[in-house]
Amino acid sequence: MGQKVLVIGSGAREHTISHTLLKGDTVSEVHCAPGNPGMESDGIKLVQIDESNHAELIEYAKQNGIDWAFVGPEVPLIEGLVDDFEAAGIKAFGPNKVAAQIEGSKTFAKELMERHNVPTAAYATFDNLADARAYVEAKGAPIVVKADGLAAGKGVTVAMTEDDAYKALEDIFVDHRFGAAGASVVIEEFLEGQEFSLMSFVRGKEFWAMPISQDHKRAYDNDEGPNTGGMGAYSPVPQIAQSVIDQAIETIVKPVTAAMVDEGTPFNGILYAGLIATADGPKVIEFNARFGDPETEVVLPKLTSDLGAGIWALLNDETPVFTWDDQRATLGVVLASDGYPVNVIKGAHVPSIPVDSDSHVYYAGVQRDGDHLVANSGRVLLVETTADTLQAAQDKVYAIIDSLETPGLFYRHDIGAKALK
Ligand code: AMP
Ligand code: GLY
Repeated sequence: MGQKVLVIGSGAREHTISHTLLKGDTVSEVHCAPGNPGMESDGIKLVQIDESNHAELIEYAKQNGIDWAFVGPEVPLIEGLVDDFEAAGIKAFGPNKVAAQIEGSKTFAKELMERHNVPTAAYATFDNLADARAYVEAKGAPIVVKADGLAAGKGVTVAMTEDDAYKALEDIFVDHRFGAAGASVVIEEFLEGQEFSLMSFVRGKEFWAMPISQDHKRAYDNDEGPNTGGMGAYSPVPQIAQSVIDQAIETIVKPVTAAMVDEGTPFNGILYAGLIATADGPKVIEFNARFGDPETEVVLPKLTSDLGAGIWALLNDETPVFTWDDQRATLGVVLASDGYPVNVIKGAHVPSIPVDSDSHVYYAGVQRDGDHLVANSGRVLLVETTADTLQAAQDKVYAIIDSLETPGLFYRHDIGAKALK
């Protein structure tokens, strides 16, 4: 009999992780807390426990013979869920609370990078409006304003003018738009270049890099509109040369994982490096302490080895095997509720989506309503396709989505366009 795994989280990322675990031979059951009802058609068992309820999650794992847990989202990682599982004698894959600060605190990440000469945007931190304004005045635009702490990717303003930067600062310090997350602000140099995401399985100083991918953070076509959690992704990213990826591994992933061990906060789990390929080489815009969403939905379908076996090896100090399909391309497009990310209008009918064996629907913000699903948050689902080329993957995803009736939902029409120009 295979292993039973408890996956924590409810998004398309956790759907992908769960589905990929079930594809391998090692894991026979995935229980997902709280999951979403779109996952059930893939044989994932839903567990009605909130991701913040550590005690109940531990109790559930004990009662149900769970072999190990996988913590998907940042909030439970930063709140120490992995520490709590381990204290209860349950193996859990993900960074502990101190290591998760690489995502939870931009100041922690920035200071670590500064101490170890890891290339990143120049920055300064402020806890009041007057000093922050003075800095913007001195530096000029374009400039980037980020609420410290977690704001689900929405606390960032890339200000093309000084006025935009002042407005962002007022949102944070005067209107408290990001609550406690806005108690301090990081103001960063604007980095110019193509963005890419480099995720790795990490155990202390050892790491296994995954194929890179590119997210689309802005809500609308041509990178217009507000920043979102991500509207679609694809892999590979042919406009990023292999030499740039190698350089990112050498100058970013290797020193950061080593530094975390040397400084007493070793990282175990998925380390996500959000990078910009600048004229001076790759530089860090952010680290996440988890799989990216939607990047996971286009990266894990390329895994040709058994995900459960790989993670089990990592958890047991054995050598894991991770192999990838580096011939074919993947592309995924998010369907979001109208109004996302500013004023989400919930309740849209989620159409049933016809897919073949090279395509998959990964669900996120859905709930059951009779015999169908309805949207209950911003990002609703992602349609992913694997094909011989990016162009073929893009054509196929849009052939699927464009054929749907999607009142109340919207999507970008240009996912992958930067690679296909
Ligand atoms: P973050 O939440 O830090 O990933 O920022 C959200 C998005 O803002 C990123 O994906 C980039 O598109 C953009 N961004 C963040 N920092 C910078 C920067 N220093 N220079 C240019 N763009 C940035
Ligand atoms: N797609 C970016 C993230 O997961 O934070």
